[in-house]
Amino acid sequence: MNFFIETIGCQMNVNDSDKISDYLVNHGCLKTTDMAKADLVILNTCSVRFSAEHKAYSLLGRIKEHKDVNPNLIVGVVGCMAQHAYKEIKRRCKFVDFVLGAKNIDNFSQIIGKYVPFEYSFKKQTSENVFRYVTIMRGCSNFCSYCIVPFVRGPEISINCGEICDSVKQAVDSGVKEIILLGQNVNSYNDNGINFTKLLRQVSKIDNLKRIRFMTNHPKDFSEELIDEIAGNDKICRHIHLPMQSGSDNILKAMNRKYTYGQYKSLFERIKTKIPEINITSDVIIGFPGETERDFSDTFKASQDLKFGGLFIFKYSPRPNTSAYKLKDDVTLNVKKQRHTLLLEDSNEISKALNGRYIGKTVDVLVEKYENKVCEGRNSQNLKIFFDSDKNYTGEIVRVSVTRALANSLSGKMIL
Ligand code: SAH
Ligand code: SF4
Ligand code: F3S
Repeated sequence: MNFFIETIGCQMNVNDSDKISDYLVNHGCLKTTDMAKADLVILNTCSVRFSAEHKAYSLLGRIKEHKDVNPNLIVGVVGCMAQHAYKEIKRRCKFVDFVLGAKNIDNFSQIIGKYVPFEYSFKKQTSENVFRYVTIMRGCSNFCSYCIVPFVRGPEISINCGEICDSVKQAVDSGVKEIILLGQNVNSYNDNGINFTKLLRQVSKIDNLKRIRFMTNHPKDFSEELIDEIAGNDKICRHIHLPMQSGSDNILKAMNRKYTYGQYKSLFERIKTKIPEINITSDVIIGFPGETERDFSDTFKASQDLKFGGLFIFKYSPRPNTSAYKLKDDVTLNVKKQRHTLLLEDSNEISKALNGRYIGKTVDVLVEKYENKVCEGRNSQNLKIFFDSDKNYTGEIVRVSVTRALANSLSGKMIL
């Protein structure tokens, strides 16, 4: 049986899709990248913005065309939108066989068992990937006023530290070199007194694990102890994704982020002082209800002042159930687009200039892919790096001298 899986959304969803794929492969299914060749199509959905839901419905339109040709095709919709728009999907897409929300994703094997009675199972021994996501926390209890995640993923739960270490060991034994620990706010991890810093210490003791990354951080819970741990622990990569969301105190308050811009800036600077080689990236939302020119200009100035290595800018999208949903979405789409373009152009210039500092320097690259005689990997700061090579170095850390910098990537020559 061939299966096709498409993932919309964040790393949490990518991780869930990986688990589903592993399960299917371990039961003798073959993964295909051609939907026309599939007997089973799974769409893993996201609800964070309206555009993500729109994308899911248009993909469902394409999936329906395949089902019209092949009525035996099994179609499953899973993930965050499946959680919150369960009824609407059932109503609008009668051809869908099953809908499984993010909160119940662990029941996938039972659901799929109703459609495909697998007769055998075997364990895949080697991993195809150089890195693997390991979920350390489920859900979120922060209730930022714009965000649907707490509603579709449920309350924050920390996974047992021993279980996490076992997953990491298993991954490393199967060839994984880098682990990316995932949670909506990893800084509030707490397993009976084991906090995130202690968890990092435990995970970094695992032999043959080369690199550790984690995401996402919430500025309100990022501790001094954690900064010190990162500074002193070579296995932890020099990249922190630290969503700011806005540079305006009024908007931060309305967003229920529980910090001011001043507190954010102070944290940012403390991290930079203790770990000078760190790359800090961020998220902002523009056009939150009530965002004035002044508020936007505070965000714009913050971006110029702090100089992020990369900035992800999202146009505010009202989400059902959230507390901001009751507020009037009063920044017009035109204004949102203008602000988006202004900030994007400026922040890209900043990131490009920062990346320019790598030109002429040597960086360690963990190679993830080899295609058309080009190796692709990332440095510790999470910048993508490309270099020409006659040999496939996938899974190895090699030294590369950087010759060119763009806003999101670098290229260079390998040093033998
Ligand atoms: N837990 C993570 C992020 C989850 S969602 C955190 O707290 O940082 C990823 C990003 O999507 C958020 O950082 C935010 O910038 C953006 N986002 C979330 N809800 C949104 C909404 N309703 N409209 C626009 N952007 C949104
Ligand atoms: Fe959403 Fe806030 Fe939780 Fe992040 S911390 S998932 S933005 S509610
Ligand atoms: Fe992630 Fe989207 Fe769900 S951002 S947690 S897949 S709503």
